[in-house]
Amino acid sequence: MTANLIDGKKIAADIRSEVKTAVSARQAQGLPVPGLATVLVGDDPASKVYVRNKQKACAEVGIASFGYNLPAEASQQEVEDMVSQLNADPTINGILVQLPLPRHLNDEAVLSAIDLHKDVDGFHPVNIGKLAQKGREPLFVPCTPAGIMVLLEKAGAKLEGANAVVLGRSNIVGMPVALLLVRANATVTICHSKTRDLPSITRQADVLIAAIGKPEMVRGNWVKPGAFVIDVGINRIEDPAAPKGSRLVGDVAFEEVREVASAITPVPGGVGPMTIAMLLRNTLHARELADQSSHI
Ligand code: GUN
Repeated sequence: MTANLIDGKKIAADIRSEVKTAVSARQAQGLPVPGLATVLVGDDPASKVYVRNKQKACAEVGIASFGYNLPAEASQQEVEDMVSQLNADPTINGILVQLPLPRHLNDEAVLSAIDLHKDVDGFHPVNIGKLAQKGREPLFVPCTPAGIMVLLEKAGAKLEGANAVVLGRSNIVGMPVALLLVRANATVTICHSKTRDLPSITRQADVLIAAIGKPEMVRGNWVKPGAFVIDVGINRIEDPAAPKGSRLVGDVAFEEVREVASAITPVPGGVGPMTIAMLLRNTLHARELADQSSHI
């Protein structure tokens, strides 16, 4: 059996187009457009690219974006002051502090300083805490995990009672996606660097999420026939045969696993495009929350 490809690029484009339609409808009614502030501390090249892509995606759907840059040496106070200033600005509905922050900064304190109603990344400890609790609803769900859940739904995965295995326990992807899978009534196992005999665990997964940052670690014989496999990894590996001398691969050995799984995300074009699409959706939601509180 060869797996169905889960086309994240197409699914993300549909979401972006829904957001664009909603923003245009707001404009037609004379309502304010959503505004997103991006905060980049330092000049990490990958972070710069991510932030630029987020701003470009905002422009394409009519969301106003405001880029703020602080030097790599910025103090904790300077970063938190910037967040306070953005909290107070009514034209800004979403605040995105690009992670990772330089090592001397305390990201928990910075994320805690963001107004809960502007927490479009869903990383504020209160939003994550609510995500982890039964009967509580966070105002925002982190973008990559939310995008993964959309991909699983579109691919037709049945999550209730399914065995879901998450490789990786990061704050940005592994842990929040595990919480979302629990909320969808899956039986969830979280694996990490200390887990013993990973393949024996992944072989039981009806749904396998790979978010460990190790190129092509998940092999064909690690996967249960018919599983749904979501590959969050983006790793650049050397390949003399590739035009640039390197190419992007995921955490999953794609060619092997596609012969075993029933559905799989490609890299690139799987999870990646979903992160930005969900950020746009969250920013629109933040604007709608602001409408309610200001009774426009
Ligand atoms: N760094 C890697 N992924 C993300 C993300 O989704 N949001 C932010 N703010 N930083 C990130």
